[in-house]
Amino acid sequence: MYEIKTDLRLEDIYTPEMLESMKKVEANRKSNAELEPRRMTAEEKDQLLATYHPDYKKSEFTQLKMGPNKGGDVPLELAALLQGKSRINPSEINLDRIDYDTDVLVIGGGGAGSSAAIEAHKAGAKVMIVTKLRIGDANTMMAEGGIQAADKPNDSPAQHYLDAFGGGHFAAKPELLKKLVCEAPEAIQWLNDLGVEFDKAPDGTMITTHGGGTSRKRMHAAKDYSGAEIMRTLRDEVFNREIPVVDFTAAIELILDDKGCACGAVLLNMETNEIRIAKAKTVIIATGGAGRLHYQGFPTSNHYGATADGLVLAYRAGAKLLYQDTLQYHPTGAAFPEQIFGALVTEKVRSLGAKLINKNGEAFMHPLETRDVSAASIIRECSDRGNGIKTGSGLGVWLDTPMIEVKNGEGTIEKRIPAMLRMFGKYGIDIRKQPILVYPTLHYQNGGIDINEDCMSGVKNLFVAGEAVGGIHGRNRLMGNSLLDIIVFGRDAGKSAAATAAGVTVGKMSLDHVKRFEDERKACGITDDTLSPKLLPSYTHGNPRFEAK
Ligand code: FUM
Repeated sequence: MYEIKTDLRLEDIYTPEMLESMKKVEANRKSNAELEPRRMTAEEKDQLLATYHPDYKKSEFTQLKMGPNKGGDVPLELAALLQGKSRINPSEINLDRIDYDTDVLVIGGGGAGSSAAIEAHKAGAKVMIVTKLRIGDANTMMAEGGIQAADKPNDSPAQHYLDAFGGGHFAAKPELLKKLVCEAPEAIQWLNDLGVEFDKAPDGTMITTHGGGTSRKRMHAAKDYSGAEIMRTLRDEVFNREIPVVDFTAAIELILDDKGCACGAVLLNMETNEIRIAKAKTVIIATGGAGRLHYQGFPTSNHYGATADGLVLAYRAGAKLLYQDTLQYHPTGAAFPEQIFGALVTEKVRSLGAKLINKNGEAFMHPLETRDVSAASIIRECSDRGNGIKTGSGLGVWLDTPMIEVKNGEGTIEKRIPAMLRMFGKYGIDIRKQPILVYPTLHYQNGGIDINEDCMSGVKNLFVAGEAVGGIHGRNRLMGNSLLDIIVFGRDAGKSAAATAAGVTVGKMSLDHVKRFEDERKACGITDDTLSPKLLPSYTHGNPRFEAK
């Protein structure tokens, strides 16, 4: 049995208010465990979201003044980058000196980029990955709870589609969502064959659980480090295939040819600041999310490199975005202790039976409402209802983890969510005995670059996969559909990019679109000279919460 070694007493860890409230949680645990809180009606959810969800806070958004989405709403932080100043002066870049020449250039070394590279390579294309950090430094690595696929006898892709379509407020692009759910069972099989160690029952069948908003248990997992296990396997496959990976190298502009087709990228060596030129027949953007922009001052569960770079590159090249105004705040970020503020507490904790409890010891909502509804509900509990518990830097509600073992028996936590046990254990908190404090954390960008069924954006020969895509999930994503989309759309983008590359002859390479963008900035009177893409978060500026200590 995993032992938490600490000299700390509860009084050393928690405030008196927390200890007082914790007594109420303990006293009500048995009855709360038996309680089945009712689900909210559609009207209740709409009202809750409109009042408490950060996406509805109008003052945090602005209209774009230029580019393909001119007039559309975006978060303030993203607007500054989309309309930002290029990091290069195009006239100083020598496009005749090619450093890398490939068929398929994959920008991003996470799960989507790796899957794309593997499939493009399998299809016979010459492929290379560039990544501003290292391969695997990505949100994929941080994903915990699992990956959805309707591959059990009581389930079907149609059922999966209905859950995800409703959960996303009926806004998903139907052809993309159909692809996601129909290719899901094969994606799981592919990962299993590559060597992902999924949780399995003694008869070899996959163990599956519910996620928020799912009508069937279809969450496949590798305990609570599913993303790390998937990324480990994909990275091995990239290395086994000897696909070149150029790390610590960021793409800072796309290159288009004289027909307006994507044909490479201007690269920046993050260590030496040298500029490199990559020429390619097709390009895949797989740069991931934007949590490190800390929209509205929220903490994030995202990887250090999640700064929306792909959206900026594509936008400047003329690609349209879709649902760029919608973000996902994961309901259960760690609110305490401060050392792990904002870190992901997987939804699997609630799948296994833990409920959300307020300071009075009351279960205030159904634990598996969709994420946007759950996050808004927690924000309401902590704001207008005054039922939050004070933490060092804000408020939180309890997630009653000991309830998991009341329901499923001793040993369940160590067996099913060992990473959670260790994450809190480091600070003397035994989640088998004490509930934990949570509050929403910025987790996912629901919107991104608009693509067609072949994963191609509005710019010819520019493909997109993973979190940089908009429209797969609509305006809210269900748990486990992101690990799924990086595999499904990553693989398909790789196949499409390789097939397209076979028929491409690159024309004259040019950065004229960057010049035109700068001219348009001036014509629109944009004076904010924020450099973009951002590449790395700026923890020395802005919100004092993120200042280096
Ligand atoms: O809660 C989680 O484990 C997160 C999963 C996801 O975003 O899909």
